[in-house]
Amino acid sequence: MTPPPPGRAAPSAPRARVSSPPAGCGLLLRFLLQLCAAAAQDRLDFGQAEPHTVLFHEPGSPSVWVGGRGKVYRFDFPEGKNASVHTVNISSTKGSCMDKQDCENYITLLERRSEGLLACGTNARRPSCWNLVNDTVVPLGEMRGYAPFSPDENSLVLFEGDEVYSTIRKHEYNGKIPRFRRIRGESELYTSDTVMQNPQFIKATIVHQDQAYDDKIYYFFREDNPDKNPESPLNVSRVAQLCRGDQGGESSLSVSKWNTFLKAMLVCSDAATNKNFNRLQDVFLLPDPSGNWRDTRVYGVFSNPWNYSAVCVYSLGDIDRVFRTSSLKGYHVGLPNPRPGKCLPNQKPIPTETFQVADSHPEVAQRVEPMGPLKTPLFHSKYHYQKVVVHRMQARHEETFHVLYLTTDRGTIHKVVESGEQEHSIAFNIMEIQPFYRTAAIQGISLDAERRKLYVTSQWEVSQVPLDMCDVYGGGCHGCLMSRDPYCGWDQDRCVSIYSCQRPVLQSINPAEPHKECPNPKPDEAPLQKVSLARNSRYYLSCPMESRHATYSWRHEQNVEQSCEPGHQSPNCILFIENLTARQYGHYRCEAREGSYLREAQHWELLPEDRALAEHLLGRACVLATSFWLGVLPTVVLGMLVH
Ligand SMILES: *[C@@H]1O[C@H](CO)[C@@H](O)[C@H](O)[C@H]1NC(C)=O
Ligand SMILES: *[C@@H]1O[C@H](CO)[C@@H](O)[C@H](O)[C@H]1NC(C)=O
Ligand SMILES: *[C@@H]1O[C@H](CO)[C@@H](O)[C@H](O)[C@H]1NC(C)=O
Ligand SMILES: *[C@@H]1O[C@H](CO)[C@@H](O)[C@H](O)[C@H]1NC(C)=O
Ligand SMILES: *[C@@H]1O[C@H](CO)[C@@H](O)[C@H](O)[C@H]1NC(C)=O
Ligand SMILES: *[C@@H]1O[C@H](CO)[C@@H](O)[C@H](O)[C@H]1NC(C)=O
Repeated sequence: MTPPPPGRAAPSAPRARVSSPPAGCGLLLRFLLQLCAAAAQDRLDFGQAEPHTVLFHEPGSPSVWVGGRGKVYRFDFPEGKNASVHTVNISSTKGSCMDKQDCENYITLLERRSEGLLACGTNARRPSCWNLVNDTVVPLGEMRGYAPFSPDENSLVLFEGDEVYSTIRKHEYNGKIPRFRRIRGESELYTSDTVMQNPQFIKATIVHQDQAYDDKIYYFFREDNPDKNPESPLNVSRVAQLCRGDQGGESSLSVSKWNTFLKAMLVCSDAATNKNFNRLQDVFLLPDPSGNWRDTRVYGVFSNPWNYSAVCVYSLGDIDRVFRTSSLKGYHVGLPNPRPGKCLPNQKPIPTETFQVADSHPEVAQRVEPMGPLKTPLFHSKYHYQKVVVHRMQARHEETFHVLYLTTDRGTIHKVVESGEQEHSIAFNIMEIQPFYRTAAIQGISLDAERRKLYVTSQWEVSQVPLDMCDVYGGGCHGCLMSRDPYCGWDQDRCVSIYSCQRPVLQSINPAEPHKECPNPKPDEAPLQKVSLARNSRYYLSCPMESRHATYSWRHEQNVEQSCEPGHQSPNCILFIENLTARQYGHYRCEAREGSYLREAQHWELLPEDRALAEHLLGRACVLATSFWLGVLPTVVLGMLVH
């Protein structure tokens, strides 16, 4: 087989295809695409397996830091140049090791500090940190709470100026109940052991409110459902609040505990279909461009027991209102003054009575529901999503789109465009991206809005994926606009990124029939391809089903010979010719129809045999065959033999 021509589908290029729509949202498009643009410079591997990684990236920087086993890697992705990797060894300063894993130093935390890059790791069960300054490694010694004893622990560390918050145990063999602590800053505080049941921490954030004394810490977690009714879900998803200025309490019981803890249930369910998604997987906070903290959008990815997913969007304003105004669950007498959860100015301690009520009734009665009048998920889907990042972007007509990048449990990324106003927002799943050469679960993802790139890691590789991959869309102007990709537009004769083109590009705001805005009313015809074949030969014609919302058919002259509906098993619509007869020579066209949109995707002419021409054309057929779907290759290769 001839290799694909240069610049097209190098084996290491991230490959993209558009995947099935999130169910329950009207208008969706699904493309099956191979990414041609990205080159080898966008991907690097570790050179060994890294079962536990931590990814650190500062927006605008060409570098990605990854912590692995006894190593910190720095991957540089300079614009227009080949990527490079640089490693720093930080092996464990051997302690008393029990087994092999214990003796390793898994780096679990990377964070920029004024002194350099802080790296912390398990260090043979003696959690320790190092400072990386200009490639020199400065040991900082044992630092409890900054790294866990083993890499799989449920750990979350939050930095804010000189303050450090952590969910990591400080002692190896006591304290079975995970706590949320302040480990550096003002006095050390921790959560009461009774306020959370077996929590799994997901994300924590500091929110600067209108008054400094009112600044909050919010953290998101799952816990065992205290409601043991067999009909109730086993786990519930929560948001908790703490006052950043919490000074602890006045009594001996409350003095080193958070006195402002409250938690609320996060609801993600669709009342119309009675679908509930109880298991929070990931949270992404998208600040509002106005700077108003109340309008920060909180994207939550949830799953249900069948591993279907939903995305619900909340606002920080709603979360704050629930904590300020709700009664406490199970507490039916008047609330003490100050009410539980209230932050007090001037470092005033919380009175013991307020602490006792909050400590015995830590959950508020009101639940936090998604934004919008229907309070329903933005969408739900049969995929099992794990992580989400969101890019707020401005398309050509100044419309703002929120573009969600969701990682699946198959190691791919779905690009979902949320458009329209809150009340009428719709989501299109426009593309599935396969970021790695070697299929593997995605361990980390980071979005850089400035460089317009995603950085993703697996246990083998790090990959840089551009957000604006426009040359993947075939089909001329029509195909470009039908993709409904807000990063792309039509410029004269190409589908281009809105960022790379200085001239205004054509973008459509008509979600139903965007192609109608193209200057040419009819889509371009497919280029005629010819092949010469002997009588009685076996042959096949393959038409990639790029859009999963279109019906593809193969026509021979006027007759439809093969029709492939959306949902067709194979990603190609294939017409087999078992034994070529004289009547079967002639023109074959593959047509894609989607609503009022009709496009000729392939046009072949089968001619009586001419050996030289046939060999020339076999090269082209190989381009098709190298398509992403290696699974269909064995049958396809057999069929390709020209007798
Ligand atoms: C990038 O790498 C490729 C293959 O390794 C090499 O052929 C090419 O010269 C490199 N380009 C630059 C700018 O270093
Ligand atoms: C890191 O350690 C490996 C072996 O453990 C060694 O081969 C490599 O040279 C070291 N790299 C540096 C930069 O010291
Ligand atoms: C690190 O390198 C930069 C630039 O090369 C230099 O200005 C700085 O002083 C160095 N810092 C240390 C601690 O060596
Ligand atoms: C969910 O509930 C099950 C059964 O109670 C428990 O084993 C599991 O740890 C819980 N998961 C969480 C808290 O995420
Ligand atoms: C759901 O996913 C988890 C983790 O990916 C897996 O362990 C579990 O078996 C899955 N459950 C179902 C019902 O597929
Ligand atoms: C194809 O058809 C011809 C005549 O109809 C027959 O002789 C030949 O055996 C067939 N070939 C195959 C592979 O079926």
